[in-house]
Amino acid sequence: MGGYAMYKGSDSSVSFGGDGGSGKRGLFLTVPILVALALVFAGSVVAVGLIVHFTAPKCDPHPPPTTAPPATTLTTTAGPTTAPPLVTDVRLPTGVKPLHYTVTLAPYIYGNNASEFYFTGSMKVRLSINESTSNIKLHATKILLTAADIRVYNSTSNKNYTVDSCMYDEDREWYSIDLSVPLPANSTDVVIEIAWFRAPLRSDLRGLYLSSYPENGTTKYLATSHLQPTDARKTFPCFDEPAFKATFDVSLVRRSDYISISNMPSIRTTNVSASTWFSEMTDSEQLVKEDFETTPIMSTYLLAFIVSQFELIRGMDTQGREYRNWARPEFVNQTDYSLDVVRNITEYFEWYFNVPYPLNKTDQAAVPDFNAGAMENWGLIIYREGRLVFNGTRDTSAIKQSIGSVVSHELAHMWFGNLVTPEWWDDIWLNEGFASFVQNIGVNDYHPDWEVDAQFVPTQQRTAFDVDSKGASHPIYLQVYNPSQINEIFDTITYRKGATVLRMLHGFVGDEVFRKGVGNYLRQNSYGNTFHTALYDSLTQQYFESTNKSLDVGSVMDRWINQMGYPVLNCSVSTAARRLTLTQNHFLSDPSQVPSYPSDYNYTWIIPVTMGTKQNLSSGTPEDVSGFVNWMNEKEQSFELDNSADDWYLLNLRSSGFYRVNYDLDNWKRLIDQLVSNHTVFSPQDRARLLDDSFALASAGYLDYSIPLNMTKYLKSETHYVPWSSALSKIGYLHSMLHRQSPEYGPLSAYMRDLLEGAFNDVGLDNKDTDTHLTKLKRGLIVSSACLYRLRSCETAATNKFEEFVNSSFTSTITPDIRRRVLCEGVATSFVAEWDRLFEFSKTVAHPGTQNDIIRSLACTNEPWILNRYLDYALDETKIRGQDLSTVFSSVAANPNGLQIMWDYLQRNWNTIVDKGVGVFTAKYIINNLAEFNSEQKLREMEAFKLQHKDTLGAASVAMDRAIESVRINIGWMERSLLPLVQWLSENSLR
Ligand SMILES: *[C@@H]1O[C@H](CO)[C@@H](O)[C@H](O)[C@H]1NC(C)=O
Ligand SMILES: *[C@@H]1O[C@H](CO)[C@@H](O)[C@H](O)[C@H]1NC(C)=O
Repeated sequence: MGGYAMYKGSDSSVSFGGDGGSGKRGLFLTVPILVALALVFAGSVVAVGLIVHFTAPKCDPHPPPTTAPPATTLTTTAGPTTAPPLVTDVRLPTGVKPLHYTVTLAPYIYGNNASEFYFTGSMKVRLSINESTSNIKLHATKILLTAADIRVYNSTSNKNYTVDSCMYDEDREWYSIDLSVPLPANSTDVVIEIAWFRAPLRSDLRGLYLSSYPENGTTKYLATSHLQPTDARKTFPCFDEPAFKATFDVSLVRRSDYISISNMPSIRTTNVSASTWFSEMTDSEQLVKEDFETTPIMSTYLLAFIVSQFELIRGMDTQGREYRNWARPEFVNQTDYSLDVVRNITEYFEWYFNVPYPLNKTDQAAVPDFNAGAMENWGLIIYREGRLVFNGTRDTSAIKQSIGSVVSHELAHMWFGNLVTPEWWDDIWLNEGFASFVQNIGVNDYHPDWEVDAQFVPTQQRTAFDVDSKGASHPIYLQVYNPSQINEIFDTITYRKGATVLRMLHGFVGDEVFRKGVGNYLRQNSYGNTFHTALYDSLTQQYFESTNKSLDVGSVMDRWINQMGYPVLNCSVSTAARRLTLTQNHFLSDPSQVPSYPSDYNYTWIIPVTMGTKQNLSSGTPEDVSGFVNWMNEKEQSFELDNSADDWYLLNLRSSGFYRVNYDLDNWKRLIDQLVSNHTVFSPQDRARLLDDSFALASAGYLDYSIPLNMTKYLKSETHYVPWSSALSKIGYLHSMLHRQSPEYGPLSAYMRDLLEGAFNDVGLDNKDTDTHLTKLKRGLIVSSACLYRLRSCETAATNKFEEFVNSSFTSTITPDIRRRVLCEGVATSFVAEWDRLFEFSKTVAHPGTQNDIIRSLACTNEPWILNRYLDYALDETKIRGQDLSTVFSSVAANPNGLQIMWDYLQRNWNTIVDKGVGVFTAKYIINNLAEFNSEQKLREMEAFKLQHKDTLGAASVAMDRAIESVRINIGWMERSLLPLVQWLSENSLR
């Protein structure tokens, strides 16, 4: 899954119980079933469980009958309130394994009444019985079926097994079938068939779900799927764990004026009788069943199904294989960029891994409602529209890059994840960290001028450094069992720290060893499942083969994967002997934090210390740093330093390692002198690392603020996007601490205006023909910052552009890279009439990026009452779509006056928000904003809020804990750092 955190405005946790109503439920439950339910199941099971119609006499249900009326259970509240019970013994027994499935799904998406949509289906699975047993368990959730439709039989003799009893275990999402006789071990001819089942089709973004888009004044509906991690079981009963790989024959039933796509190419369509699948259809309707080729052996979570009225564009690669991009007709012609990317990077990865792409087609589809950025379903990658559709005149360069990156990320999974799959979700870091790292190798081949490895430093790596410096972080490798735990670890640590650590691994073994080692791992484990040690072993072996040297990759990696956090290296140089002594310590962004997980290694790491000196780096930092590695295995260790006494040395070349360096003071000063006199000796990665480390160290109190601040002076001659990006994000923290609540903000903004003026004059507001991709990114960044720190020339230019835009009735085009800032400046300087016009315009604007920019910019108003009204709008589905709710809250919070307003609003309206059933992600994203507070008083308010709403915070309470921890860190920072910062500014700022 890609782009998990970038655009997760949508809600993934609306449960079926919450959006049902007795009206439509009447469709599902005939009277006898309702009676059976009332007798059989405890309340909550009815609302969300798999429901069995016990007409089969032999089925003796468990648990024992209760008299709870089903009606009370139909209103189960969705959203953050329903934290699933954390049973952990959720793994299926391994004695019975699936071999081959036949699955047919028939989504009913016809007509205008979406609340009555549903899907039906049938499923057959042939089993491999490895241990004799009379019990079979398989997963299912929210699927309605009747026991009469279940058949277990011997596919050779066609004899039925008698089903003694069947039971649904809601906590484990298991359906358990007891047979009257044990199945013999080592047989492969037992089949479970479920001839017909039915399930709701909702816009809940999970399993097979409903999505829609407007077209010429009508609403078009589609059924699409997202099964990772545990929602295949919501689509059809199955063995829903990644290691239960099997082959699948998929069929989709649809009206003949729709299209259907799945993982594999289509083989045939046949006419079928409509009434078999849909009770409201008569056989006069044209219904077809489309059959797809048998899949390779694969995990359930990688299946994909779409029934829609999408259109397509096609392309071929040099081997004649077909690529098809699917989208709604309005957007399909804007998917040509992503089609180019997918063709080119597929062929590059085939070369890189030296393993052919195993399918003979690749589909990509853009769906209007999607929870992540994209999902790597084998052969049918599904994206949210904004990750596949690129509008060359309206979309930003950053969007173009994120499209290239997400496509590359999902493609990397075709090998790493799909062909070879982690045994269990505890290793999802390997999948996601790997794809998050390797996506850059793919993009770099197609767009070398983007310098994505340099960009890695202020983006993915920076976030990993930030998040993992908190006491509340966690080790990458965590045992998880329950689906809610599984969902929880699709997080920054998994993706970004995972990618950062794998990039470090790539750095110390070198590209050739990495490439060949990964290739061997993929070939040896094709169509299988692995534990992460298999990758380590393969790399260890390849390292020896390529270099004739031993390196135990596993023992290095264990330190980085199994313990949270990362080290800072403290340096001291003995001048006489020219020896450098390094001491490693666990780096915490606030030294008073207590790590939330103990470490088996006492927070020491085996560190690949790359070392350069003025002598050996005189011609710049080399691309391949593997030759510069010195292994640090001890808490304290000395190294030879081959330079003269007054020359600098540099550690962590190209920012390839996941550690910070605190140089001795003399060396910091020499590095600053070198930056000022000629910064190009260091790579952009090195410059970004020096800025990032020095600010982080100063922020934590390990280094005087004068070091990073003096370092920023060199930026006046910096032209590269990457170091600017690093510096501005670190200085952004100072801004966020001071601008709302400190009388000392003035000198900071004055200093920043002075620093940024040259760069601003250099990039300006308008694109030039000669601009590179990185220049365009830099323009977006510099303009945004220059206006943020209120550089007058920036504000004037931006408001002028806004006026042009308003005067043209929103038809003039604003350069996409600076659009958000221009709109924001405009809204800030205009009043309610323009606000209302712009808001109305936002509802009709067809371009999603523009719409998003407007939604964010509307929060730039200086009128508190408009901000309050805007928050009201966010809770009103007719004004702001549910998926944009958290965007409105975050944007209001980003307004200098808005955080307090948002917080007051949240406290007044929390119950309304909960009742609205916003999902966990939305709740989390709202709560995250509170992390910017920095006073004891706010801390107390937040703690009181947490206590008061502990029952309704649900999974968002983790976000609340993190926010509270951040506020504590901020308070510590204010006490520690405000004064020295102000001191430096008063000496260096022009006011
Ligand atoms: C299924 O039937 C065949 C033919 O009668 C028999 O050889 C086989 O053992 C049976 N399999 C099982 C699991 O009983
Ligand atoms: C087995 O069960 C199916 C469905 O329940 C039924 O149609 C079929 O006649 C049964 N076969 C035998 C041999 O009993």
